[in-house]
Amino acid sequence: MTAYTNLQTQLSAQQNTWLITGVAGFIGSNLLEMLLKLDQRLVGLDNFSTGYQRNLDEVKALVSAEQWARFQFIEGDICNPAHCQQACQGVDFVLHQAALGSVPRSVEDPITTNANNITGFLNMLVAARDAKVQRFVYAASSSTYGDHPGLPKVEDLIGKPLSPYAVTKYVNELYADVFARTYGFQSIGLRYFNVFGPRQDPNGAYAAVIPKWIASMIKGEPIFINGDGETSRDFCFVANAVQANLLAATTVDPEAVNTVYNVAVGDRTTLNELYAQLQSNLVPIYPRLADAKPVYRDFRAGDVRHSLADISKAKRLLGYAPTQRIGQGLEMAMPWYIGQDL
Ligand SMILES: NC(=O)c1ccc[n+]([C@@H]2O[C@H](COP(=O)([O-])OP(=O)(O)OC[C@H]3O[C@@H](n4cnc5c(N)ncnc54)[C@H](O)[C@@H]3O)[C@@H](O)[C@H]2O)c1
Repeated sequence: MTAYTNLQTQLSAQQNTWLITGVAGFIGSNLLEMLLKLDQRLVGLDNFSTGYQRNLDEVKALVSAEQWARFQFIEGDICNPAHCQQACQGVDFVLHQAALGSVPRSVEDPITTNANNITGFLNMLVAARDAKVQRFVYAASSSTYGDHPGLPKVEDLIGKPLSPYAVTKYVNELYADVFARTYGFQSIGLRYFNVFGPRQDPNGAYAAVIPKWIASMIKGEPIFINGDGETSRDFCFVANAVQANLLAATTVDPEAVNTVYNVAVGDRTTLNELYAQLQSNLVPIYPRLADAKPVYRDFRAGDVRHSLADISKAKRLLGYAPTQRIGQGLEMAMPWYIGQDL
């Protein structure tokens, strides 16, 4: 039995109340699905800025009516302290996912990214502290490694941020740390590395590479690779990120709290390799893709060249054990994209 399977058994026998901010988004809705399936009580907060009602509807269809009845949705904004206070009432664990993602969005509009990701984060920290929640787990980011050249990335060695987005995610960590020191408030930051899976938005200017490429391949549009394609990432299937959140929220090891963890798999995949994997997954359904070739263009501002996580800290202190590598994750995500009206 892994720490995660043990935890799932424990949770099924004991109801807690969880708040997921950003619940209508990609990772938030996957957290919602898992926790409802474990018969937990859920509160969700979202302002639908990048999330969708259809993600909530899809989760509703995947759980029982009894499980869905344990979910209370609040349409609200983390930039509004009153909405944060309302959402935190009676909550045991907060899983804070709400933020404006995307490096290029932050380069184009740093003020809006700052408001959501720093002011909104601080509002949530204060509300969670005042409501005396037991633990605040938040979405940090691998972008915090910035220009540090070391590979694989270990939590203590970070460089200078390369984008406004990276600044906001680093400031989150600093605030969480200060709240531990000054108020004794318990938190854990999860530095996600390129999470992918069902319900990740394939559309819009700021879509992440995997959903964007899958959608373009299905629609017969060209695939653009920024740079030479040898840029690499540690792609992490969303089930692994869900696991990390649940373990972080519930750990009783004092050494494991008030710190940050890499959440990834520990595998390095180049964009050229990713292209080939997506192509081989889709060729059986879309044979025309067999001869398709990507279009190479300039590197993109703010992007880091290589990203690969050392996940030994999460393994050691949280019992984290990723269940899917990229290949399995892509196989599991693909049917969802094929079933969408893209
Ligand atoms: N997906 C990744 O690879 C990745 C990597 C590193 C970090 N992260 C972080 O993980 C978190 C979740 O990302 P995601 O990929 O699910 O993105 P997403 O855009 O699908 O989800 C974010 C959700 O937050 C909501 N939201 C945004 N601003 C809000 C506000 N002011 N008030 C209330 N709700 C708000 C959006 O409507 C959306 O539903 C974010 O904090 C993101 O920065 C994601």
